[in-house]
Amino acid sequence: MTSPLSLLLLALATLVTLASAASPTPYRLLPPPLDTPWTSKVGTNPWPEHPRPLLRREAWRSLNGIWTYQSAAGAAVTDATSTPPLPLEREVLVPSCIESGISGVMAMGITHMWFGRNFTVPPGWVEGARRVLMHFEAVDYEATVFVNGAWVGFNRGGYARFSVDVTERLVSGGNEVHVFVFDPTDHMRIPQGKQTNRPSHIFYTPCTGIWQTVWLESVPETYITGLDVTADMHGNLDITVHSNTNQSSPVSVTLHPPSGASTPLLTALSNNPTRHTLTTPRLWTPSTPTLYNLTISLGSDQVTSYTAFRTISQGPIHGIPRPLLNNEPVFLFGPLDQGFWPDGIYTPPTVDAMVYDLELIKSLGMNTVRKHIKIEPDLFYAACDRLGLLVLQDMPSMRRAWDDGSRPSAAEQAEFERQLRLMVEEHRNYPSIAAWVLYNEGWGQGPAGDAPEVGLTDKVRAMDRSRLVLAVTGWNDHGAGDFHDNHHYAEAQCGTPWSSLPSTPYDGRRIAVQGEFGGIGLRPADENLWPLPDAVATINQTYELHNAGPASYHYRAHQLLSQLREQVVRYACSGAIYTQTSDVEGEVNGLVTYDRRAVRVDKEAWKKDVEALYQAASARA
Ligand SMILES: *[C@@H]1O[C@H](CO)[C@@H](O)[C@H](O)[C@H]1NC(C)=O
Ligand SMILES: *[C@@H]1O[C@H](CO)[C@@H](O)[C@H](O)[C@H]1NC(C)=O
Ligand SMILES: *[C@@H]1O[C@H](CO)[C@@H](O)[C@H](O)[C@H]1NC(C)=O
Ligand SMILES: *[C@@H]1O[C@H](CO)[C@@H](O)[C@H](O)[C@H]1NC(C)=O
Repeated sequence: MTSPLSLLLLALATLVTLASAASPTPYRLLPPPLDTPWTSKVGTNPWPEHPRPLLRREAWRSLNGIWTYQSAAGAAVTDATSTPPLPLEREVLVPSCIESGISGVMAMGITHMWFGRNFTVPPGWVEGARRVLMHFEAVDYEATVFVNGAWVGFNRGGYARFSVDVTERLVSGGNEVHVFVFDPTDHMRIPQGKQTNRPSHIFYTPCTGIWQTVWLESVPETYITGLDVTADMHGNLDITVHSNTNQSSPVSVTLHPPSGASTPLLTALSNNPTRHTLTTPRLWTPSTPTLYNLTISLGSDQVTSYTAFRTISQGPIHGIPRPLLNNEPVFLFGPLDQGFWPDGIYTPPTVDAMVYDLELIKSLGMNTVRKHIKIEPDLFYAACDRLGLLVLQDMPSMRRAWDDGSRPSAAEQAEFERQLRLMVEEHRNYPSIAAWVLYNEGWGQGPAGDAPEVGLTDKVRAMDRSRLVLAVTGWNDHGAGDFHDNHHYAEAQCGTPWSSLPSTPYDGRRIAVQGEFGGIGLRPADENLWPLPDAVATINQTYELHNAGPASYHYRAHQLLSQLREQVVRYACSGAIYTQTSDVEGEVNGLVTYDRRAVRVDKEAWKKDVEALYQAASARA
């Protein structure tokens, strides 16, 4: 029997079904396996800060926030005719990795997917001949971008910024952007760092999707596209202002010293290198991280930036090659910094969270951070500039060669080199970066006869003479670059005449550093532990696990730092990297736990031991 009531119910049910087909599942933060003090602060307006500190304009607008999302298994998007399914089935937070709780998706193993959102553009942004640019700070791994259904651009590479001029595609009123993402992590040999779909001990949950800020910017018809800025200890400020026309047009540069009056510096020509020399520059060092702001104008375009006066070089001190900062030897000491988060994976939950790690490192008296096979959002490097931390910047490695024994093909190697060049181009203006690190522990290079780093070292030097090159950190050293870098756990073998690995005997012609050591572990309280069973099962792979508790852990930390100090005194050790800033998944060896809630090291003891290292180094200078 069909009663009026059941007809009504049927009608209602149909309406509900229609409504749910038409509107995406709302965004909801999914509780990650472990959260941080910042998880609950992410909200739906994440990463609101201007994302490009070295080239800022007033007219910009963030496109971060709630987008829509849908997995698209097996889809192939190659041309302008591809269109997304509409509407996409659920909401997602951008920026995020879709594997993270913060994304609202928290799914593994998805290789093809769509993202979309609506946006508006302020009317003044398209007046006259003005242009609107859409910037993606990083999408892992390939992105195809459509605006109002039309193809506008494609990018390959999970770590580099790309931009598309969307002006011609805009309509008055509402606009739509869709991004098709393909991420072949583990399926193809690509720069992916520590990401893997099968996390285990020293390899972790991957990141897929739009994991850094998306934003819009309004520019005049002729505008500044980039700046090359270097400033040295002699007061030389070298600037090239690039414009979209490539013509030589007048530009004016104003320098804002940290205190005192701003100085209109010079009028130069765009696309031409110009040098200005300050007589008494205030130099940048980790203890005096002095920055000078810059305002640069070209026609009606105006941008702000900054620089610092510092010189990084190397040279013999009492016969031993040393890294030099402003012609003084500098001992490089700091942690291996992986930049993984239990709630955001590759995307720090907030800028404050990211800066927390750097402030912890500073508060323990260290002056260096090795950014390990990951490239961070630009605000990371800006924070290092501001706080005074020297950065050893690793290129994200390709998959480990030994997985299948094969070597990168010529095409894979060419793509690695292209992305390495982008890393250098995009970051070479950051004063805190002290060295480019090309290869880690044989991931992408190998023993004799397999030395791609030799040629790449020359190419990187040709692009950037303002810092050093660390060609190979650990294992297969073939003499390239400025450093001889040994890895050894737990004790350091830093510039010592012995080495446990025959592939890295001490080489007195280059600066000796210990690119990794330490790594001793202490299982945290369960509330601070990444609780996934596969990760917990690998805790026993820790180089040295202090099951007996904190007392032996602290004793060994002191012993390791004291041994390192002895090597500084006796041998050629010029720097060392301690593994690591924070725990990561099944690795429980951080200065702080993975959730950043419990500092593991004894802060006072650690500070004393670190200070003793610097004193030992300066006694040899
Ligand atoms: C944009 O807005 C239109 C109209 O409300 C809606 O149909 C469409 O699904 C929206 N697109 C996205 C990507 O949110
Ligand atoms: C400017 O020069 C670059 C590099 O040579 C070139 O790729 C680009 O097409 C030029 N742009 C214009 C507008 O001529
Ligand atoms: C430099 O610029 C930054 C960012 O806009 C600002 O916070 C800072 O106060 C400026 N410093 C000086 C000395 O102008
Ligand atoms: C570590 O633990 C796993 C799982 O509990 C076990 O299978 C393995 O044998 C252990 N390894 C070591 C080195 O103790």
